[in-house]
Amino acid sequence: MKALVLVGGFGTRLRPVTYTVPKQLIPIAGKPLLYHVLDLLPDDVEEVVLATGYKADVIDGYVRTHPVRWPVRTVPEAEPLGTGGGMKNAGDGMSDPFFLLNSDVIASADLEAMRTAHAARGGVGTMALFEVEDTRPYGVAALDAQGRITAFVEKPEPEDAPSRWINAGLAVWSRTALDAIPPGRPVSFEREIVPGLLTQGVYGYRFTGYWDDAGTPDRLLNAQRLLFEAGRGGKLGIPRGAFGTGPVATMDGSRAAGASFGPNVTLAPGVTVEAGAHVANSILMDDVRVERDATVTDSILGPRVRVRAGHRLVRQVLGDGAEA
Ligand code: GTP
Repeated sequence: MKALVLVGGFGTRLRPVTYTVPKQLIPIAGKPLLYHVLDLLPDDVEEVVLATGYKADVIDGYVRTHPVRWPVRTVPEAEPLGTGGGMKNAGDGMSDPFFLLNSDVIASADLEAMRTAHAARGGVGTMALFEVEDTRPYGVAALDAQGRITAFVEKPEPEDAPSRWINAGLAVWSRTALDAIPPGRPVSFEREIVPGLLTQGVYGYRFTGYWDDAGTPDRLLNAQRLLFEAGRGGKLGIPRGAFGTGPVATMDGSRAAGASFGPNVTLAPGVTVEAGAHVANSILMDDVRVERDATVTDSILGPRVRVRAGHRLVRQVLGDGAEA
């Protein structure tokens, strides 16, 4: 079975960081968001196909230099085709069925079990569903007693939401779903295609545990916390000579002697945190420099950001090379 991963979005809600770094390559809990998504795939997946668009070259370069367990191929779009258009564009040679993953969700879903459920029940697709309080930003499913999806409404007003079970962005689809997508134009798979597939049998795979769509600054930091709590963080450990509670994921070559850390921090390669500085619940991307006695809390700092000595930074998202 192959996996098709949608990686083509602009990540507008994470600007200015995403002006230079695609959302999927932002490191959280010690590795890029995309790699946490891929971690969910079973070992026996034959190939991962990344449907890319925005910053396709950057993503292609990264996956070539940071290989995963499966062969990876990227298929770029010349112009944004939306989720369905991206699937169609990258769908040649797809297995039947195939995994379809959004590249910006973290989840405790068991995709092996979802695949087994799909094989047992048949139908054209099986969508992982997670229960949330506020359904407004998501696609919401109505289910019958057998777990079959009877209605699917994208981003409904609260009074129109048929349940609190939302599309978790992880699914198994048969090739029939690809055949239903018109070629050569932007298509929203969720709005234009999924409702029409329901008559052919689409089932929900409900899971509990944790899930988040890491598309906004708050939710990206929340996703990082959930991954740490679930023990899914990358290389853990406070840099040599630093102190604090952690968890901190330190990627290669960071220095922080004399600095202190609260919980839930990722230090990308080449970060420097000087003595007396304090960092908590934040993501510091490549070559960020936090100078003496500064504090960084609840923030996402793009590559090469500099935080001046003594400065207090709270709930900030700063793009490449910014100074604060
Ligand atoms: P925002 O601009 O902040 O809304 O983020 P986004 O562009 O990632 O949009 P959204 O979170 O709604 O996208 C859901 C998933 O679909 C993500 O994995 C995106 O990378 C992917 N995606 C969105 N638009 C496209 C597209 O035009 N082509 C492809 N291939 N993938 C897309």
